Amino acid sequence: MWRKYKVPAALLLACLLAGCREEGVRQEEGQQEAENTIEIGMTFDSFVIERWQRDRDVFVSAAQELGAEVNVQNANGDLQEQISQIEYFIQKNVDAIVIVAIDSNGLSEAVEEARRAGIPVVAYDRLICDADVDLYISFDNEEVGRLMGEHMREHLGEGGNVLQVCGPMADNNVPLVMGGFSEALEDSGLTVVGTEHAEGWLAETGFLATAEYLGTGEIPDGIMCGNDSIAGQAIRALSEQRLAGSVCVVGQDADLDACQRIVEGTQCMTVYKPVEKLARRAAEMAVALARGEEVSTAERMDDGSYSVPYERLDPVAVTKDNMDEVITGKYHEESDIYLNIRDR
Ligand code: BGC
Repeated sequence: MWRKYKVPAALLLACLLAGCREEGVRQEEGQQEAENTIEIGMTFDSFVIERWQRDRDVFVSAAQELGAEVNVQNANGDLQEQISQIEYFIQKNVDAIVIVAIDSNGLSEAVEEARRAGIPVVAYDRLICDADVDLYISFDNEEVGRLMGEHMREHLGEGGNVLQVCGPMADNNVPLVMGGFSEALEDSGLTVVGTEHAEGWLAETGFLATAEYLGTGEIPDGIMCGNDSIAGQAIRALSEQRLAGSVCVVGQDADLDACQRIVEGTQCMTVYKPVEKLARRAAEMAVALARGEEVSTAERMDDGSYSVPYERLDPVAVTKDNMDEVITGKYHEESDIYLNIRDR
């Protein structure tokens, strides 16, 4: 019996060698595949605000579809941490670095280092100043402010007093939004009576600034908020004085709870920014840059020292009237937006 199955030693050796060779080829192929796979390093400010998780998920899956892997890091609002993450990406020799800057003025050296190492850099959603990035991709932030201002103007036809609770000036989007807003208020009879900045985008500032203003005995006609999180907190302060719904509060991001407040009547409007479009487009362009291809944009933006390629996307104003047309079933589900509305 044994003899029947016995394999001659020479044949066994040949098989083993062939197996080894195959294994070797497989390993080499694997290595080559790893070398060919594009790696993108992406550092986020933080994921506290709802939209950024969507930005991350869409960016990562769009990049994967294009054959790239994304190493995502969260700097948790800490600029030094973000700089270390960029340095880690440089050491790792990734093919491109994508940055949601915590401080638009604090990253020029880190970006310069990356570019010296031949790694292209993308400023995602927020411009990085004096850094000569390879691409800046964002929504038209001045238009975001303009849409807020135009809405307030329309809603408060008689004019009145407006409180501003903006994001931090370290975020380059903030002065742009403020600029657009004040442009829209020109000759409107609306007066900005106070401006606060939420450092680190801390939403609580919306509550504190509003409560403080109400504490003076004055009631603002409108509150311009840097985003929907701040708006939520401003409305919390208003509701403590039973004023929610009687002050025109505007924000941006079309967060789910802001959409709920809009249909419930306590927030006047938000600015919707299709972040899926932004993330997909950014992934396509980052992968192209990583492959050493040229990317072309219709516009350029001055970063203080250089004129950089700028890919601009358009924001959309959302009120109760166009909620279903723009948001329902597309950005948020109907049952979630109208969660607290009985008859619909
Ligand atoms: C973005 C907003 C966001 C805010 C806080 C800004 O740069 O434009 O959409 O709400 O950052 O994360």
